[in-house]
Amino acid sequence: MVQAEDLVYNPYSFSVHDDPYETYRKLRDTAPAYWNPDLGFWALSRFEDVLEAFRNFNTFSSAGGVALENRRPIGQSLPGFQQMIELDPPDHTAFRSLVSRVFTGRRVAEMEDEIRQIVDGYIDAVAKKGFCDLVVDISGPFPMDVICAILGIPEADRTELRVHADRIMIREDGSMTIPKEAADGMFGLLAYFIEDIARRRSGSDRSGLITDLIGLEVDGRALTEEELLGFCVLFVIAGHETTTKMVANAVELLSRHTDQRDALVAQPKLIPGAVEEVLRFHNSTQYMHRTLTRDLRIHDQQLHEGDSVLLLIGAANHDSREFGLSAEEFDINRRPDRNLAFGYGAHFCLGAALARMEGKIALEQIHLRLLNYEIDHSNKVRFHSSNVTGWNNLPITFTAN
Ligand code: HEM
Repeated sequence: MVQAEDLVYNPYSFSVHDDPYETYRKLRDTAPAYWNPDLGFWALSRFEDVLEAFRNFNTFSSAGGVALENRRPIGQSLPGFQQMIELDPPDHTAFRSLVSRVFTGRRVAEMEDEIRQIVDGYIDAVAKKGFCDLVVDISGPFPMDVICAILGIPEADRTELRVHADRIMIREDGSMTIPKEAADGMFGLLAYFIEDIARRRSGSDRSGLITDLIGLEVDGRALTEEELLGFCVLFVIAGHETTTKMVANAVELLSRHTDQRDALVAQPKLIPGAVEEVLRFHNSTQYMHRTLTRDLRIHDQQLHEGDSVLLLIGAANHDSREFGLSAEEFDINRRPDRNLAFGYGAHFCLGAALARMEGKIALEQIHLRLLNYEIDHSNKVRFHSSNVTGWNNLPITFTAN
């Protein structure tokens, strides 16, 4: 297969963010192992290839960074913090087992009432007005509240953390360079947690997962400052960004498929299936980055040790080889056996049960309380990052229930 010269996939291009799926189709059909010579990366787009790469951490390593713009030689961590998402097994395994019990389906189910109260609080604040910005007023703030409740971060500090986390993701059109605003966001987040950890060490009454982690051991020793900061940064970014974007993506999609929206209102039991379909059809996480640990031949292309490879979740989840001829249609009644929205294998999203629960509750409360919502599509504003897709602003009008 020869890659067409005019086929360009740039994950930083704002026009790709507007609609990546046409490009993804061309990649799957004509360049399943695609090489971008300008940015220096390979991209895998077919479902089976992406799944196999997620599974095969010995060849597709996370230890060179999981975002393209943060790539570096394998084993070198980002300055100041070390995250388990950037470790391969067996190193990764011990860190993951420290925190996995907190995010099991059972633990998450216990949070259902608390999450519903948080979501309802934001809806209460706008319901009487008959209009709001779905992102600013509802889907933006609530996931940060939920993850902060788990971490033990006081309510007064949550907006500050959200501002930092949102800035970290910002990218400029077409450019891989990390803008100053994003770097400042990361410094802000690290500065917050350096102080928070010090305060907890010196006996403050803050409880929650961060305090638990300070008291835990890995391989018979306490966690280092870098490892503690890594957990804090990972949970705040992973727990907030993707879920926030998922809920707004769902509402935006449903506003354009009103027959399916009406079905959800009439039968709320369809909502968990709708959440799955949003994750498959327009996932907030579009790709993960891996670094090759050995030479590899795939689809007649020669890849080399040290090369960057993007695993295109968004493309894989539209692959008709897996989802049939209707793969590119949005259908809340679809019941696929599997999709790659949360990755696969060793790093399968730790927060998947929590994200599903948050998505279910948000869609239940929105469809119960904000009737016949309509989006002002001409004034919605897209969020631009490299691998997270969603909205900054989604103005809606509705009839309050
Ligand atoms: C719609 C929402 C979400 C999506 C689409 C999503 C997606 C993903 C994906 C694709 C991965 C795999 C990364 C890789 O293989 O390199 C991942 C990992 C992870 N996610 Fe999520 N995520 C979501 C929500 C959450 C939430 C709410 C949390 C909160 C705890 C969370 C925490 C994590 C963590 C800690 C990891 C790393 C796991 C590890 O390294 O073992 N995610 N997520």
